[in-house]
Amino acid sequence: MNYFEFKDNELFAENISVTELAHEYGTPLYVYSAATLRRHFDAFDSAFSGLEHLTCFSVKANSNLSVLKLLAEKGAGMDIVSGGELYRALKAGVPSDRIVYSGVGKKAYEIAEALKADILMFNVESVGELHRINEVAGSMGKKARISFRINPDVDPKTHPYISTGMKKNKFGLEIENAFEAYKTAKDLPNVDPVGMDCHIGSQLTEIAPFLEALEKLLKFNQRLKDIGINISTLDLGGGLGITYDEEEPPHPKEFGEALTKALKDQGLKVILEPGRVIAGNSGILVTEVVYTKKSPTKNFLIVDAGMNDLIRPSLYGSYHRLEEVVKKGRPEIECDVVGPICESGDFIARDRNLPEMEQGELLAAYSAGAYGFTMASNYNSRPRAAEVIVDGDDVIVARRRESYEDLVNLEC
Ligand code: LLP
Repeated sequence: MNYFEFKDNELFAENISVTELAHEYGTPLYVYSAATLRRHFDAFDSAFSGLEHLTCFSVKANSNLSVLKLLAEKGAGMDIVSGGELYRALKAGVPSDRIVYSGVGKKAYEIAEALKADILMFNVESVGELHRINEVAGSMGKKARISFRINPDVDPKTHPYISTGMKKNKFGLEIENAFEAYKTAKDLPNVDPVGMDCHIGSQLTEIAPFLEALEKLLKFNQRLKDIGINISTLDLGGGLGITYDEEEPPHPKEFGEALTKALKDQGLKVILEPGRVIAGNSGILVTEVVYTKKSPTKNFLIVDAGMNDLIRPSLYGSYHRLEEVVKKGRPEIECDVVGPICESGDFIARDRNLPEMEQGELLAAYSAGAYGFTMASNYNSRPRAAEVIVDGDDVIVARRRESYEDLVNLEC
């Protein structure tokens, strides 16, 4: 069942007309479907029911408090990468023993905040970080539970900006360095190496790279056992891809089955950190056509959502499916869908076939629920869009539209 569907040629989010939402809350507007978020979480989480596991939603994908709260109520933990994300997770009511903390640049104050909250685990990405966590924990009279993030040197076959588990990437520790790091950690008084972690990249459309990484980690675990380090937790990160265009990623069920098979007799608790697969197709960005324009070589649809609202096309050349919110059965023309920002890289789509739309009409950009609003900025002094969540017949304003005052509030 798709919760964004057309009824009589008009797009609905669950039971609410998207046109009505745009009239009520303005555009550009992020619209999330609560039923889709819940369904995606259930599909993912239940795929691992054969293993002791914890599904930690990756907050960077969609950090709206209402989204986090909805997922936490379903039993989700959270994968965080900053003090700010910790703050959001706690504010959304996520129990601290369901929070794992990754990231290469954790600062001492962020480590202290996470220790104070007593989070489940730090995913440590360097030896420098290990020593810092040990020091901070010592000064607070605490012992920090840690995993090392291992860089297994696996090619995830995704966009270079979002592949993270290859030798050349800044993330985690190379396997031999990780081995030394575990030995160091074992002798430090204020850390407890309880786990192993890896995250090889995002928007993966095949299972093989995950299994390749897992095999390396399980071999590594044997080496740890041989020197008397017995870890209890394995965090496999996130990364499962979604369909934006014609990709055919594995269904979470298939993904869960493959990993369950590889892990079933290992006696390890498994942590997963999905972001995109839960939130991506749970949200759309609704934008209004401000002007249409023809040059000798191009047709332009100038819309009110810019790269400050959705940067993925500009940054990664990403594809987001576009559709008119009200279908009128017009013939298609090829056009560039561009935003109001003063950069030629400000586009939502290039050379896309779309019905010949007119000024004032609404366009929906799909798959915008992950890395959409969270990557938005105020570039060109544009107030950030509003976010609403539709839940059946109800609409919640999950974040009001920013005002001009919001733009300058922190300045003097
Ligand atoms: N865990 C860690 C440590 C991560 O770095 C990430 C994503 C995830 C989990 C969640 O990955 P997911 O399941 O969403 O693939 N802005 C880019 C994506 C960057 C992903 C960064 N890390 C985009 O818009 O495609």
